[in-house]
Amino acid sequence: MNLSMEEFLPYYGRRKGRRLSKASKRLLEKNLRAYLLPHKFSHPTCLFTHYPEKIFLEIGFGGGEHLAMEAKNHPENGYIGAEPFLNGVVSLLRHCKNDEIKNIRIWPDDIRLQVSSWPNNCLDGVFIMFPDPWPKNRHASRRIINKDNLEELSRLMKIGGELRIATDHSYAKNWILAGMLENPNFEWSVNHPKDWNIKPKNWPESRYMRKAIIEGRKPAWFNFKRVTN
Ligand SMILES: C[S@@+](CC[C@H](N)C(=O)[O-])C[C@H]1O[C@@H](n2cnc3c(N)ncnc32)[C@H](O)[C@@H]1O
Repeated sequence: MNLSMEEFLPYYGRRKGRRLSKASKRLLEKNLRAYLLPHKFSHPTCLFTHYPEKIFLEIGFGGGEHLAMEAKNHPENGYIGAEPFLNGVVSLLRHCKNDEIKNIRIWPDDIRLQVSSWPNNCLDGVFIMFPDPWPKNRHASRRIINKDNLEELSRLMKIGGELRIATDHSYAKNWILAGMLENPNFEWSVNHPKDWNIKPKNWPESRYMRKAIIEGRKPAWFNFKRVTN
């Protein structure tokens, strides 16, 4: 990859979250370079050592469990994950190392710093698993599902592409659904009124998903399709 650790190190300073242990820092320094998403590229298909059949983006991958499992199950595809918390990045790198996953590229920062230069219709799907719920109205602008972000996602996604969203937070269920239904570029893929209560079988677990289920909360599972309007 064409970004050196020296170029990456300035990002360290503005990270929030737990301090990295020495072992985590070592793992990051040794392994991130091979997975790091460059600042600029012409098309996501050029990022991988194979020509990927499909390209997916996960925004806010947390510890990377969902992304790593998707990538492991589908080596024919390419996956891009964004997560500003370095402990999460370290956790994903551990999954990549242990499972010899090669088809992931990591953006260790806010996804909004990347996507404006990406070409139209370059993504086959987007995953947003358990986004930060931002329940207070005064924090509404921080919600990941908002008008501007959805416009950008619809530009990036191919027609027929999947937008996968899950949440266990009651307010977030409302603002996610309201935002999605307002946007004519997406169609809610449901066959049955109870569909959103049932976890789709092919969605791998994420850390927040596991926590929600263990603590007895009922997540909502939303699947949207990019459509022409
Ligand atoms: C509640 S956590 C869920 C993590 C993971 N998806 C899971 O299900 O375990 C939400 C994550 O989204 C990340 N996030 C929020 N806004 C983001 C953005 N603009 N770009 C990338 N990641 C973001 C946060 O750093 C946080 O780790």
